[in-house]
Formats: sequence, structure tokens, C-alpha cells
Amino acid sequence: MKAGDGKLWRISFTVPEGAARAFADALAPFGDSISCFESDGKGRHRLSAIGACEPDASALGIMLATTAAGQGIEPPKARIEKVPADGWLEAGRRRRRTVTAGRFFVHGAGLEGIVPPGALALELEAGPAFGSGSHETTRGCLIAIDRLAKRRRFLNSLDLGCGSGILALAIARAMKRPVLAVDIDDWAVRTAAANARSNGLGALVRVAQGDGFSGSEIRRRAPYDLIVANILARPLVRLAPALVRALRMGGVAILSGLLHSDQAALIAAYRAQGARLIGRDRLGDWSTLTIGRRGDLSRIGQDHAEGSHRPGGVFGRGRCV
Ligand SMILES: C[S@@+](CC[C@H](N)C(=O)[O-])C[C@H]1O[C@@H](n2cnc3c(N)ncnc32)[C@H](O)[C@@H]1O
Repeated sequence: MKAGDGKLWRISFTVPEGAARAFADALAPFGDSISCFESDGKGRHRLSAIGACEPDASALGIMLATTAAGQGIEPPKARIEKVPADGWLEAGRRRRRTVTAGRFFVHGAGLEGIVPPGALALELEAGPAFGSGSHETTRGCLIAIDRLAKRRRFLNSLDLGCGSGILALAIARAMKRPVLAVDIDDWAVRTAAANARSNGLGALVRVAQGDGFSGSEIRRRAPYDLIVANILARPLVRLAPALVRALRMGGVAILSGLLHSDQAALIAAYRAQGARLIGRDRLGDWSTLTIGRRGDLSRIGQDHAEGSHRPGGVFGRGRCV
């Protein structure tokens, strides 16, 4: 790409709705801000990429042709033009703050227009609470939640160490079922409650303050069929007996906040409580483990590493020992 002259470059084209997501992904290297809007009420979507550099027209042509072939459609005709910079720089800056994990699309306030088609959108202001979605431990949990949500509808879930509430919101958005979100930190509790309301999920996400499983609400709503806990290796080992006890038979827990080197200790601690490893997601230095407590778990486990999707890597035969 050649450097621009102070103005910005825009690439735009329309595609059928079913192909919009593939083109939005393929368009990402061609701009700083990618947007996607339904353009005509007839299912066609208008995609655009805004960037500071003049796009390489031949690379763009190849991308459009290969993506179109993959979607079984004719390549769209793209328009490349210079546009005034006003407004777009800020949009681009905000766009870079978005996070994609599985079907989840996490963004700050005021970005509804760029949500990719088919995505499960979460609008999030983390404030002082942990949980913007960008950390590998959070993304690992979102990917695991998305995978589980495609296979099973969990009726009663818990997000322990909810921070901004991102994982509770993700569960509620994907499964449309109640979730309890608990954090020891007062700020986190307030932030998570505000985020639940602003996402229209206040009726599904209940937020409570508490340390581990000691609170009355967390004990009253047990047992859970899904628990997600992104709170570092050492507390997770300490919490193993209480966490497995709070899981329903056949229930599943997603454990995150651990380095690859912490895995063995975690797995041993949970195995000692009668749970077993059924899946693992590795992002950067971090591992997210999915464990199950007895029951039939054969359809939900998988082993993943970022960049090498390996479906079918189920640990064991899908039954707890
Ligand atoms: C790494 S952050 C995770 C936030 C969010 N769930 C995410 O995945 O991005 C860990 C959160 O766990 C909370 N936490 C730590 N120990 C806890 C405990 N014993 N009981 C409840 N929450 C705890 C912290 O206050 C913090 O908000």
C-alpha cells in the first residue's frame, strides 16, 4: 500500500447477506476501520474499509475473487475513493478496540453499525473492572462458551470472578438463560450490573458480591450446569472442592487465568474432586481448560490452539472417571 496524502481511502462494495461475514473478515487487512450495514432492506450488505494508505487494487481484486469463489458468488465490484478524514479517524480508533472471539463481538459504546452479521454483540465499558475482552484468558473463555453454546443449552450458569461481567453477558446472550455473576470486588459488581442493563440482559444476569462460594446467593442457586471462572491458577486450585461440589452431575466448568505451566496442577486438583478435562484452548501463553463432572460429556469437549483449529481432540472417552 502507498502512503496517503492526509485524506483517507475508502473501499466499498455490496454482497449478499450470507457472504457478508466472510468478506468483512477478508477486508480487515485493507483498512483500519471495517463497517458492515444492511444496505437495501433486501438482504444485501454494504461493506466498507477506511484506511490511511491507498489500497493495493490488484491485491484487493484477488481477495474479492477468492472470497467470492469461496462463497459461490460473482466477485463484487469495489469502489476505491478518497474521503475527508473527519470522523473516520475516531471511528477507526474505536474499531481497533473491538474484540472478536468465536461468534462474540465485543465493542465499546456507539459502534452498533460495525457489528458483523451473525455476531453475538456485547457492548462493554470495563471501567476500573477487569474484563475488556482483549486478554487471552477472557478470549479463551469466550471461545469455549461459544463452542459449548452451539452444542448444549445450559439452564443455570455461574460466572465466578465476573469483573466487567463480560463472560456472564456472553452466556446470557448466547444461551438466553439466567446467569449469576459474582465478584469479590465492589467496583466489579457495580460495573457488571451496569453492563448487564446496558446490554438489555438485566433480566437474565444477576450480579452479587462475594468471595468464592461463601455468599448466600451463590450457594442458594447451586448446583450449576455451567461455571466459568477466570481468576488465576492458585485460587482455582484452592476452589476446586467447592467448585466441583457446586457443579451439577454432567455439568461443565471453564477455568481460565492459567499459564500453560499451571495446567498439570489444575488438572490434578480437579481430577481429585471427580472432574475430568474435556477441552483446552491455548491463546498465547495462556490456557483455558474445560472440565466436566460425570454424566455424558462426549459431545462438548475439544482441544484448540490459536491458529490451529483441531476439532475432535476430545480427551478420553467422554465419561468421568
Ligand atoms: C482476571 S479477572 C476476570 C474478569 C472477567 N471474568 C474476564 O474474564 O475478563 C478476575 C476477577 O476475579 C475476581 N476475584 C478474584 N478472586 C475472587 C474470589 N475469591 N471470589 C470472587 N471473585 C474473585 C477479581 O476481583 C476480578 O474481577
